[in-house]
Amino acid sequence: MNNKNRPIGVFDSGIGGLTVLKEIVKEMPSEDTIYLGDTARVPYGIRSPETVTRYSLDNTRFLFSKDIKFLVVACNTASSVSLDRIKSVVPIPVIGVIEPGAKAAVKATNNKKIGIIGTEATVRSDSYTRLIKAIDSDIEVFGLPCPLFVPLVEEGWTDGEIAALIAEKYLEKIKSRDIDTLVLGCTHYPLLKTVIGKVMGEGVRLIDSAVEVAKEVKTILDNSGLSRKEKQNPRREFYVTDSPLRFRKVGERFLENKIEHIELITEP
Ligand code: DGL
Repeated sequence: MNNKNRPIGVFDSGIGGLTVLKEIVKEMPSEDTIYLGDTARVPYGIRSPETVTRYSLDNTRFLFSKDIKFLVVACNTASSVSLDRIKSVVPIPVIGVIEPGAKAAVKATNNKKIGIIGTEATVRSDSYTRLIKAIDSDIEVFGLPCPLFVPLVEEGWTDGEIAALIAEKYLEKIKSRDIDTLVLGCTHYPLLKTVIGKVMGEGVRLIDSAVEVAKEVKTILDNSGLSRKEKQNPRREFYVTDSPLRFRKVGERFLENKIEHIELITEP
C-alpha cells in the first residue's frame, strides 16, 4: 500500500491512550488509525522497566504486522522506560509522549520550576527530568507519582468532592515547590484537568502531553510527505487484550466518541 495511505498505530497499556488518540484524530481527521490497548496487562505504571519493555515490544510487533506507517507510544510509562528498545525493532518512525510534553513545559515556564505528575514508573525513570535538563540545565524539576488518579478516572470520578480531596492531598507536596508549570505525565490525567487546575491555581500552566504529541505527529508526517489529507470515513480499528465491553464503556468517555469495531486478541 502507498505509504501515505497506511494507518497510524497507537498503543497504550489500556484505555488511557485514547486521550492521545482523541487529539490525533482532532489534529489529523483524515488519517486511518489502529489502536491497541493491552487491557489484560494494565497497569504498566507499577511494573519493572523489564516487564514494561517486554509488553511494549509485543504491542509494537503486533501493530507493525498491521502495516502501520507511524507508531505512537501513547503510554507515558512505556515511553519513559522502553522507547529506545521499541525504536530499535521497527523500521518506521516512532514517537513517545515524553519529549513533546517536556519541550512544551520548557517553553511554558518562566520561573524555571516545573512539576511532573505520573505513575510510579514514569516518575522513577526521570524521563521528563532528563529531557528538560538537556534543554535547560537551570530548570528545577519536581516529580510526584499520583497512582490513585488512574483508578479514579476509570471509575468516572473526574470531578466532585472525592476527586478534589485526592488531588489536594497529592498536589500539596508539589504546590509548596512554587512551580509555574505542571506536566500531566500520564494518559489519564487530562481528564482531571479541571480539578488539578483548581487545586494548583491560575498561576500554574498545565501541560497536556496528548495535545503536544498530536501536534508533533502532524509535523513529522507533513515534513516527511507521509500525511494523508483527504479521506471520507477514515478507518478506526481497536484491539484489546481483555474485555471489549469495559473498553467500550469507559473508553467512549476518554475518546469523547463512539467506539465501533473492537477486536479481542489473546496476546499481542
Ligand atoms: N497509561 C499509563 C501511563 O500513561 C497509565 C496506566 C498504567 O499504569 O498502565 O503511564
